[in-house]
Amino acid sequence: MIEALDRAESIVVMTGAGASAESGVPTFRDALTGLWAKYDPMELATPQAFARDAELVTRWYDRRRVDALAAQPNAGHEALVRMQRRVEGRGGRFTLVTQNVDRLHQRAGSTGVIELHGTLLRWRCVRCGEERDESGGAMASLPPVCASCGGARRPGVVWFGEALPEGAMERAAIEAERCDVFMTIGTSSVVYPAAGLVDVAIRGGAMTVEINAEATPATGRVTHALAGRSGEILPEIVRRLEVGRHDA
Ligand code: OAD
Repeated sequence: MIEALDRAESIVVMTGAGASAESGVPTFRDALTGLWAKYDPMELATPQAFARDAELVTRWYDRRRVDALAAQPNAGHEALVRMQRRVEGRGGRFTLVTQNVDRLHQRAGSTGVIELHGTLLRWRCVRCGEERDESGGAMASLPPVCASCGGARRPGVVWFGEALPEGAMERAAIEAERCDVFMTIGTSSVVYPAAGLVDVAIRGGAMTVEINAEATPATGRVTHALAGRSGEILPEIVRRLEVGRHDA
């Protein structure tokens, strides 16, 4: 596996919430704890929920936003930066596709990240569409009000039933189809279309690797399923690449 990674001309990595778990960011399925335990995520992450109760929905997203800003990238994020520099340094392609909305990959130093599900750190007005980065403390009024038109503003994440950001899935699928190695990391592999990218890579003939704390629907389909934490396994993979050990 290490040798294939070392030789690959093109690597695609797709991450999910598990890649941020060791930074203390709850995974999507663990996100509703404490005061939020009585809510179903599917009832907060929809346009219908926002239309019904914009204050409740934006309060939940604003808390996640503030928590994401307080979190730090972990050893797994950092290993992916090293992997990208290594592959690109020898003229190869490296594409990081994430379902995460916390921007921890970018803060670690990853570049060109495809954000399939948008980001918590950019909000837009539902009336005039104006977008603004939100990197401050907890918002004073929820939902926040657009300074230009007075409309309600919402997080720039993709909700269930909404389209993915323009071109994001298309670019990810093109890279998955042509890559030599595809890695799926810390995702439950149940939310489509992201979960289908591994099959695009398999059809394209790539070696596929999963890193996950638990078995997922993708586990039986990948070439190598590595059970464990991404913040431990990824640094070990990159260490072996860097010391030139191909015995794994
Ligand atoms: P989930 O919360 O569904 O799954 C997290 C995955 O990470 C699980 O499979 C865990 O076993 C695994 N995991 C947890 N800790 C880990 C660690 N330290 N190392 C490796 N794996 C670990 O998160 P996603 O798959 O990202 O979509 O969820 C996909 C999408 O569903 C989200 O982007 C969100 C959600 O609904 C939208 O909001 C559109």
